[in-house]
Amino acid sequence: MKTRIIATLIVLLSLAAGAIAQNIATTRGAALDTELKPPQIHRVDNSDVRRKRAYPMQPPTIPHKTDGYQVDMNANKCMSCHSRRRTEESQAPMVSVTHYMDRDGNFRADISARRYFCEQCHVVQNQAAPLLANEFEDIDDLLRADNK
Ligand code: HEC
Ligand code: HEC
Repeated sequence: MKTRIIATLIVLLSLAAGAIAQNIATTRGAALDTELKPPQIHRVDNSDVRRKRAYPMQPPTIPHKTDGYQVDMNANKCMSCHSRRRTEESQAPMVSVTHYMDRDGNFRADISARRYFCEQCHVVQNQAAPLLANEFEDIDDLLRADNK
């Protein structure tokens, strides 16, 4: 008897969940159980023009292509331009000091293991229309608005 009641409950709950899933507003443009044609891969923005941040603490997005840049145990292509030593030749902005800090706050001579895999945090800029409008206002704009 008990198992029967539990089984009925499970069936009812999953039906209810299915009904809710139909009505969830998603940015994918259709219900979750509808298979869509995947969008084309967006073209990378290789313009060298930096974008402003879209939320606090955002790692800056990458304004250039990174195709074929090797980052593994043997080499870090990103650091061949962005390390302290290479900025004069490359004219690339140096990775900030936080990238040399270990988890205890000590500054290391080379990139910290925590920051080795750059694209864990930094993403290339794409020529894609945003899925949602962003209403983020940076602190400078808020302060200026306050002083008026
Ligand atoms: C050949 C040199 C070179 C290599 C290799 C390179 N970069 Fe860059 N990077 C630059 C230069 C130069 C800029 C300045 C903007 C520009 O000219 O594109 C830049 C800008 C950036 C910025 C923007 C910084 C900011 O303050 O807005 C980020 C983030 C970045 N690169 C990350 C990376 C990552 C991650 C890799 C490896 C996947 C990488 N770069 C490899 C030269 C390089
Ligand atoms: C754990 C996330 C993380 C990883 C991994 C990481 N970064 Fe960053 N990076 C950030 C954040 C957050 C900022 C902005 C705040 C700061 O400087 O700490 C930043 C800032 C930068 C800047 C701009 C520095 C400045 O002074 O404006 C460059 C260039 C950059 N990173 C390149 C790299 C490269 C190259 C690597 C790989 C060797 C890398 N980052 C790995 C999170 C990360």
